[in-house]
Amino acid sequence: MQYKQVFGNALANQLTDVLSYDSLMMMIERPKHDSLGDFSFPCFELAKHYRKSPNMISKEIADKLDSPLFEKVESVGGYINVFLKKEKVSKKTVEAILKMKENYGNSLVGEGKTITIDFSSPNIAKPFSMGHLRSTVIGNSLSLIAEKNGYQVVRINYLGDWGTQFGKLIVAYNKWGKEEKVKQRPIKELLALYVKFHEEAEKKPVLNDLGREAFKKLEDGDEEALLLWEWFRDESLKEFLKIYNKLGVTFDSNHGEAFYNDKMERVVDTLAEKSLLVESEGAHVVEIEGLPPSLIKKRDGTTLYATRDLAAAIYRQENYHFTKSLYVVGNEQSLHFKQLFAVLDKMGYEWQKGMAHVPFGMILKEGKKMSTRKGKIVLLEEVITEAVQIALTNIEDKNPNLPNKSVVAEQLGVGAIIFHDLKNYRLNDIEFSLEDMLRFEGETGPYVQYTHARTSSLLRKGNYIVREDHQVNYTDEEAWPIIMLLEAFPQTISKAMDDYDPSQLAKLLLALSKTFNKYYASVKILDDNHQEDRLSLVYAVKIVLKDGLRLLGIQAPEEM
Ligand code: ARG
Repeated sequence: MQYKQVFGNALANQLTDVLSYDSLMMMIERPKHDSLGDFSFPCFELAKHYRKSPNMISKEIADKLDSPLFEKVESVGGYINVFLKKEKVSKKTVEAILKMKENYGNSLVGEGKTITIDFSSPNIAKPFSMGHLRSTVIGNSLSLIAEKNGYQVVRINYLGDWGTQFGKLIVAYNKWGKEEKVKQRPIKELLALYVKFHEEAEKKPVLNDLGREAFKKLEDGDEEALLLWEWFRDESLKEFLKIYNKLGVTFDSNHGEAFYNDKMERVVDTLAEKSLLVESEGAHVVEIEGLPPSLIKKRDGTTLYATRDLAAAIYRQENYHFTKSLYVVGNEQSLHFKQLFAVLDKMGYEWQKGMAHVPFGMILKEGKKMSTRKGKIVLLEEVITEAVQIALTNIEDKNPNLPNKSVVAEQLGVGAIIFHDLKNYRLNDIEFSLEDMLRFEGETGPYVQYTHARTSSLLRKGNYIVREDHQVNYTDEEAWPIIMLLEAFPQTISKAMDDYDPSQLAKLLLALSKTFNKYYASVKILDDNHQEDRLSLVYAVKIVLKDGLRLLGIQAPEEM
């Protein structure tokens, strides 16, 4: 049982006709000071309703508030403050973790339901951008969190492998490309061709027409164009796989835009049958109330990003029968997804209600969006290599005898990069800073990983063996803030799911690490009469840190 809910239920009994349970739960706060209790509820908004002062209201409610889990209830300055029975709550929380271990925090809300998550989805023949990195780490974490909540997850990498840009690339390759060069360094070379095409097209706009023609050929199945395209795709995918392996990310489907090439006609036909297709200047569009029309077919008959996403959404529903379907894609594509969902709605598909765009902010360089067109980009692979190198230097410095140094260095370097992203609320823009990404101290992944390794080392030193039926008996005041954070883990996981927001979990792990390190500095854990009780607390912290990091997509080494 979650204690916030215990408090919420007790309040609800008295406030049913004034506030809904959900809104009063949202109003419950965690006081900044222990002297103000463990939870508090502000009564200021109730003043209008009752026509009494907040002080009087909080006093009246507090007097009647009761639960066997409350030590005391106080009314202070318009707030109702609840103090939990520390011993009882500590005992229950730690005993629950000893029993459930890494299953602690699991939920069944998603049982029997499938969720598709479209994430990463880089564009072939282009480097893996920082924006795609965001999509990858957020999407991967949401996938893991969804599984923890009981969902069956289908991870989809919707590769950007179709569109006019491939026509342009084919033209550029035929004009200036060299086979050996592309073979040696595919992405760099293809990007160079792409950049050159745009430079030249500024001077010679006909190039753009040639590009469009080449793409039309591709869509019509021209052998030669297809061969080139396939080659670009394979080489790109190989490079992306290197990055996914480093990040520990996998997919259930790599069906990109091209996969839907032969599935769009059906969609266009259905739109026509439902009389949703309107001709506009030779092109075909679907009109949407309150939004710009969605362009389905261009004048030359070629299809668009929107058409392919429509076909893909229908395919996913038909094949996976999803209850929810998420798209982890930058904020700048908000309009596209609004249009997509609206068109599906007009087509009469009820299931579109389960779809959601999970947007995120941009990575900025000196306040501006980073652009691939200009060719000035930071290569992710190089960033990862550098992070791992720094980790290795740190280890050589502090713990040169560590076994598996290079494995641990990988875990730390990658942990730093992933955590750096996930600790921020996803909609915030992030200023790109290599220095920040590679930081190991303060609010970082390696700091949480380090705290986890500390718990492991304590358990080893104390020869701790979990006893599931251990009757925990705490008297440590210092342990209380830890207990409250452990207790908040399950609800944080379900909230992170509801809000599609892994940062809530990242923040909990930081708080737990800080709190635990403080406890470690002030309480003698080993060689004491209370060793087993204290080590079972350490064990509980280890379980939550390890599983929490796992849910962010980060590994937790035992030693570092
Ligand atoms: N490839 C696209 C891009 O890089 C993202 C695709 C997102 N997913 C989707 N179903 N539209 O901008």
